[in-house]
Amino acid sequence: MNSKTNTPALEIKQLKAWYGESHVLHGMDLIVQPGEVVTLLGRNGAGRTSTLRAIMGLTGARKGSIRINGVEAIGLPTHRIAHLGVGYCPEERGIFSSLSCEENLMLPPPLKTGMSGMSVEEIYAMFPNLAERRHSQGTRLSGGEQQMLAVARILRTGARLLLLDEISEGLAPVIVQALARMITMLREKGYTVVMVEQNFRFAAPLADRFYVVEHGSVVERFAAAELQEKMPVLNELLGV
Ligand SMILES: Nc1ncnc2c1ncn2[C@@H]1O[C@H](COP(=O)(O)OP(=O)(O)OP(=O)(O)O)[C@@H](O)[C@H]1O
Ligand SMILES: [Mg+2]
Repeated sequence: MNSKTNTPALEIKQLKAWYGESHVLHGMDLIVQPGEVVTLLGRNGAGRTSTLRAIMGLTGARKGSIRINGVEAIGLPTHRIAHLGVGYCPEERGIFSSLSCEENLMLPPPLKTGMSGMSVEEIYAMFPNLAERRHSQGTRLSGGEQQMLAVARILRTGARLLLLDEISEGLAPVIVQALARMITMLREKGYTVVMVEQNFRFAAPLADRFYVVEHGSVVERFAAAELQEKMPVLNELLGV
């Protein structure tokens, strides 16, 4: 246990964000404790991706407060935010097609967090597929392998707060199961995970807590233990 156990890994208060003139987040409030897995649910265009992007400083203007391990990040540029120990895995994954699996893995430099990232050996132990495919070109990897590589790559940097956007999207059920095992493993290792998911069945058994986002703000929040009683509300909000 470190001395910061009372400090949330992520604390967002009244976050507003814009893309140019377009106002997309209207006062988001979100709190994530170290080691928690939190899922952001919502309909298409609700503002979940924008929330992750705003945390990373990748939207236009931002207002409000985003504290990462207690440090205010609202005025910081993206690279400084990353160095607070944040790993962002965007929906488009960002695997370089001309590089091999291993070259992609080695690409991002370690973060200056003082926390060491996973070694290549640890990563290959956790993702045996990637070990097998280490010399394959990025484009030759399956969608599932690319997704695992995209996550593995941020684990190597030493990031402890992981922002994962729709990692299960478009992948075969067997791969989605492997990703679910990965999230469980990361949770056991003490990582903090914020994941955006459209696939409710994937997210439901994994998350400690859920937030429902609509029109750029939080409209519902509940813990895993409340999931059953919240189903009617979720059905109404999300059609799940
Ligand atoms: N680069 C952008 N410029 C302008 N508006 C944007 C941009 N990206 C997203 N938006 C708008 O911001 C709103 C929130 O989009 P966002 O991508 O955050 O939604 P989401 O909850 O991730 O949904 P989904 O991924 O299903 O589309 C939408 O109205 C969207 O059209
Ligand atoms: Mg999105």
